[in-house]
Amino acid sequence: MRKFILFIICFLSAFDILAQGDISSDKLHIIPQPVSVTEEKGFFRLKSNTGIFATSQEAAESASFLASMLNKPTGYRLKSELTHVVRKDNSIMLRINQKRIGLLGNEGYALKVTPNQIRISANTRDGLFYGLQSLMQILPPAVESRQPVLNEIWQVPCVDIQDYPRFSWRGLMLDVSRHFFSKEFLLRYIDEMVKYKFNVFHLHLTDDQGWRLEILGLPELTSMGAWRVPRMGSWWSFAPPQPGERADYGGYYTQEDIREIVAYAQKRSVIIVPEIDVPAHSLALIAAYPGLSCTKLKYSVNPGSRFNHEDDVLCVANDSTWMVLDKIFTQVAALFPGPYIHVGGDEANRSFWSHHEPDQELMRKEGISDVAGLQSYFTKRLEKLILSKGKKMIGWDEILEGGVAPEATVMSWRGMQGGIKAAGMKHEVIMTPSHYAYLDLYQGEPLVEPETYSMLRLDTCYAFDPLPEGIDSKYILGGQGNLWSESVPNDRQAEYMTWPRGFALAEALWSPTNKRNWPDFVRRVEWRFQYLDEAQVKYARSLYDPVITGLIGADDSIKVKMESEITGIDIRYRFDGTDPDIFSPIYGVRPLDIPKGATQIRVRTFRKGRPLGRQINYPLKELKDKDGNPVKSKS
Ligand code: ACM
Repeated sequence: MRKFILFIICFLSAFDILAQGDISSDKLHIIPQPVSVTEEKGFFRLKSNTGIFATSQEAAESASFLASMLNKPTGYRLKSELTHVVRKDNSIMLRINQKRIGLLGNEGYALKVTPNQIRISANTRDGLFYGLQSLMQILPPAVESRQPVLNEIWQVPCVDIQDYPRFSWRGLMLDVSRHFFSKEFLLRYIDEMVKYKFNVFHLHLTDDQGWRLEILGLPELTSMGAWRVPRMGSWWSFAPPQPGERADYGGYYTQEDIREIVAYAQKRSVIIVPEIDVPAHSLALIAAYPGLSCTKLKYSVNPGSRFNHEDDVLCVANDSTWMVLDKIFTQVAALFPGPYIHVGGDEANRSFWSHHEPDQELMRKEGISDVAGLQSYFTKRLEKLILSKGKKMIGWDEILEGGVAPEATVMSWRGMQGGIKAAGMKHEVIMTPSHYAYLDLYQGEPLVEPETYSMLRLDTCYAFDPLPEGIDSKYILGGQGNLWSESVPNDRQAEYMTWPRGFALAEALWSPTNKRNWPDFVRRVEWRFQYLDEAQVKYARSLYDPVITGLIGADDSIKVKMESEITGIDIRYRFDGTDPDIFSPIYGVRPLDIPKGATQIRVRTFRKGRPLGRQINYPLKELKDKDGNPVKSKS
């Protein structure tokens, strides 16, 4: 009887999913879309006695990793073993190619599923790891469960996949300064990012609102710089610290924490890129060591209040600045084994330098004619320091101003132009243009989203192409999504802002351009939501909500426009203060006239008669045009 009830429940929930949308289970749903997929008939069935085999010691780590990923949801006790026999029934075989297959490169893999065996092969351990990720994506959604799922049929469709990435730099950045995220959360974030084959985790470790890295010999950095007064509400409007107020919001990573994070990431083919943002965004550093600023005044770590951005800039001419930077970057280089250190360089208000005599004197001595040149001097000197530690330097695209450091890698965020210019000068480039890749922006109708600014919908993210036409691809390492955390006060919100836009970026960075297809991507995203539910990862369903704007029609009256980024859904609305249902009018293509006396429009999306998105109750007097300005009729 219990079995029968379970069957009915499974049947009903499968029906529920299908009824909610056009998401079908008969095609594969891998994100990012692989280079080549040939679907074949039949299934491999994972059982409690399936063998997991590595054909060499090099593949053994991946085999035991796979066993541990499968054991949790299945409740099986699968073990991995070394074998030299290539064919075994009821087995998963992992192999590092003895003879390198050129096409697969350093990160590609081949995954072949037959009814008797699953074979994953690659030239490298990284490639094998990505093969495992694709395998996990073609298992049922329950594979993401944190507890054993009994009665699941662990079926894998037969398929032949050959896959490799378009770009070598596939990054996500998390700002751990504006809000602090625990070590445990960073590990969980790495777990999620690698499922979509991201391989760079950039940590924005320092800013005006907190210093997050222990540096031995500079204790005030973490005893003072890591803590600010707690505030809640709208960022930039927070009250500054009050006299005597306790600064108890914050935290930092000890060097031991960093070693743990780095080792965890390394095991998952991820490099951590640390960012120490200088010469600006340095108020937390200056709060700890006031002697490093031009003013030498006493400052507090900023809690998210408006402040004078002249104050967060280091004095370039001060020898102590260089002594402290040497200490910091020496330890950063030793802690992070990856090849790159990010030094920020963005948004420096250079005006103190123009009326601070020691900086003026330095400019005269060095023959520097303007303050942009002084920042260039700072960055070039810093690059020498970074290179002397055996690392390459990355900076935001402002480092191009006043003359770029000779070997710098440029991270282009103010659009693609900085990256294009840098590539033209034969510098390596990582594209992170804010209008495609800033994950802190709204992803749906602002009225129902947690407060932030501007707009980056999933379809815009999906349109990102890091390689501008006519640019030599060898200089474009890849791209990255950046999650600034001013409006991200907790772990769950960091997940919400990352997924599913992270899926879109993953596909932009991995999949060949001819394999990218928005409707098919949406189909896969919707299927993937079930996996996120199983994994208890928060994500945004904002793609189901229309964005509502106002406009002035030819008759000078205000009209309501609604835009959905996906097709196949009905946007239903009511102006009379009641909730829309499947009997309410459907929005077509023409903006709506507002009925006399209406004060509100209530909107919700439906598919196949079932509600999909959130209900939006929009006060008509708050209608804004597409640029965010209030809509006013002339009459
Ligand atoms: C930045 O967004 N200031 C790099």
